[in-house]
Amino acid sequence: MNINEADRPKVFCGVVCILIEMGEQELINYKLCSEVSDDQIFQAFDGGFSDYMVNITMEKDQMLEHFFGPEGNDKELSYIALDGNKGIGLILGGIRLMNGVKTMRCGTMCIHPEHRGMGIAGRLMDLHKKMGQACGCKQMFLEVIVGNDRAIALYKKIWL
Ligand SMILES: CC(C)(COP(=O)(O)OP(=O)(O)OC[C@H]1O[C@@H](n2cnc3c(N)ncnc32)[C@H](O)[C@@H]1OP(=O)(O)O)[C@@H](O)C(=O)NCCC(=O)NCCS
Repeated sequence: MNINEADRPKVFCGVVCILIEMGEQELINYKLCSEVSDDQIFQAFDGGFSDYMVNITMEKDQMLEHFFGPEGNDKELSYIALDGNKGIGLILGGIRLMNGVKTMRCGTMCIHPEHRGMGIAGRLMDLHKKMGQACGCKQMFLEVIVGNDRAIALYKKIWL
């Protein structure tokens, strides 16, 4: 049978392809420093402070003795951010009495330059705050060098 071209049913068959970029997948794990190795803690510290405004380069043993010794941080109160097995972020915490008030003190905080601006610092600070609350601290305390504008901006954004 001959069908006129004009009478032939019009079938429109189309597929719309939508491609959505997922962006780089960040698989960052957060652990207590007591759950990881000293090498990973030092790796996070060394990388995170590699471009710091003041040179605080130190050997692994010196770093661990100082920050978990006289500086008063505790591995049970400190968190590390891991990219795979690599330490890429750190927040050290310790409890002190300041004017009689139980205080969670942030002893150091750093993120590896390649992992900055991704919210990892905020997540670590959140864990730090929650740890303080869980320990019954009534306030948090940290010191920051004048001129460290990025750190100050972060602390203001998260805590103030
Ligand atoms: C400080 C540090 C931990 C912050 O981590 P980060 O991943 O860089 O933090 P974020 O990018 O999430 O937040 C920084 C905020 O500072 C601001 N900021 C970014 N670059 C800045 C700059 N050059 N100057 C001023 N403010 C800046 C932004 O407001 C940003 O927040 P946003 O999300 O609104 O853009 C990290 O930069 C670091 O490890 N620095 C070296 C070590 C250090 O200084 N430690 C702190 C010692 S007290």
